[in-house]
Amino acid sequence: MRIEIPTYTERFGAVRIYNVLRIFELDSGLSNGTAEQENQPVQTICRLPYDSLVDIEKRMAIVVPCKQERLKVLEGVLSGIPHDCLTILVSNSHRSPVDRFRMEEEALTQFCRIVQRRAMLIHQRDPGLAEAFAAGGFNDLLDEQGLVRHGKGEGMLVGLALAKLCGKDFVGFIDADNYVPGAVNEYVKDFAAGLHMAETPYSMVRISWHSKPKITRTRLFFERRGRASEVTNHFLNLLVSHYSGFGTEVIKTGNAGEHAFTMQLGELLSFASGYSVEPYQYIQMLELFGGVHPSPHPEVMDKGVEVFQIETRNPHFHENKGDEHVGDMRGDALQVIYHSPICPEPVRNSIKEYLHRGEQGDELQKPRHLYPPLQKLNLESFVDVLGRKATTFQQIQPVVTIPIPTEPLIQAPDPNLQTAEGADDTGHE
Ligand code: GDD
Ligand code: MG
Repeated sequence: MRIEIPTYTERFGAVRIYNVLRIFELDSGLSNGTAEQENQPVQTICRLPYDSLVDIEKRMAIVVPCKQERLKVLEGVLSGIPHDCLTILVSNSHRSPVDRFRMEEEALTQFCRIVQRRAMLIHQRDPGLAEAFAAGGFNDLLDEQGLVRHGKGEGMLVGLALAKLCGKDFVGFIDADNYVPGAVNEYVKDFAAGLHMAETPYSMVRISWHSKPKITRTRLFFERRGRASEVTNHFLNLLVSHYSGFGTEVIKTGNAGEHAFTMQLGELLSFASGYSVEPYQYIQMLELFGGVHPSPHPEVMDKGVEVFQIETRNPHFHENKGDEHVGDMRGDALQVIYHSPICPEPVRNSIKEYLHRGEQGDELQKPRHLYPPLQKLNLESFVDVLGRKATTFQQIQPVVTIPIPTEPLIQAPDPNLQTAEGADDTGHE
């Protein structure tokens, strides 16, 4: 890959947020390839050989949160994840009347058998998984029924715990509703590129998609900005500017669903529920390492945190889930910014002002749930119970040695595993 190197940095305490980096060439060959023949490499562009990206991919897990997505689309996503990454599918799909989780399991198992690769999967509402979290001292994740709560953020946290279990150094997140396997492949390469360029062990890469195509009556229109992201970015930038005294637009990836980080950073961050999860990562980094309040992690303050934002070459084609969904997502993001202890009064007022003007009324509730950092999970107790009790947990070509059932699922679906709302339950694929 040939990618821009950062030319502008916004500093917020120990956090360095780089300008959005463009990609010039998706594949720049092997390390012993063409580079020697280049007489004058351009100084603002960095060449990352194919093999150096694969070295990162070998140490990376890709978590795919999935709820009621079309199987063919999911299969495309799986095929786009580079071979050397460990895929971890965390599903919250319905188990009845049609057992969609079972269909996902079959698709993943068949895929891994054909291409000879490893993967893990689990159902988010598996009572055994909930028991494992409880055993690990992580009860906050459980709801009144004693199961892991519904939500994308919750699914991501489950994936992160499994990646930690496998000793992965990096974790990336890819949505299961992406129509373009080539885009998925690029996103993971972009993660690897950022993590390769990083100079600290506390780094994050956030994808800024090139465009989101919309179908109009006569043509495709390549929309450059997302409707939720625009608002989230605006208020995150306002918060940063308040402290620096200089206006900034550096943050372009407030809602980035596709992102990756080093385990060392990820396990220190609290997660927010549902779709607040991504904007809250910025808030968390600024709260913990921004120097506004004393940091509980002096070692991070010393080494610093780097945030890379990379603009993809591929457009982002995904399932359109409607206007109400976008509105909810925007509201969730504003909640976590508004209620942050480092959110200054003028920014709070601007958010309130925006909401009065906007379509969402002036209610601004507290974020539903904020979970402790994964570091708090007692991994040994978690694994022990997971292996014995989580009946939906499967390792395809085992990665870690834990006492888990290796045969395919045979249990009848537990009615508790049904999700609250649902899309297509016909099972027609
Ligand atoms: N495991 C699990 N549990 N997965 C879930 C859940 C859940 O409760 N809810 C949703 N997902 C999965 C979906 O199946 C999809 O793969 C992914 O999470 C993203 O959910 P979408 O509903 O498709 O979200 P979106 O496309 O509107 O928004 C995406 O992009 C935004 C930025 O533009 C998400 O990634 C957002 O988090 C992101 O901010
Ligand atoms: Mg989507």
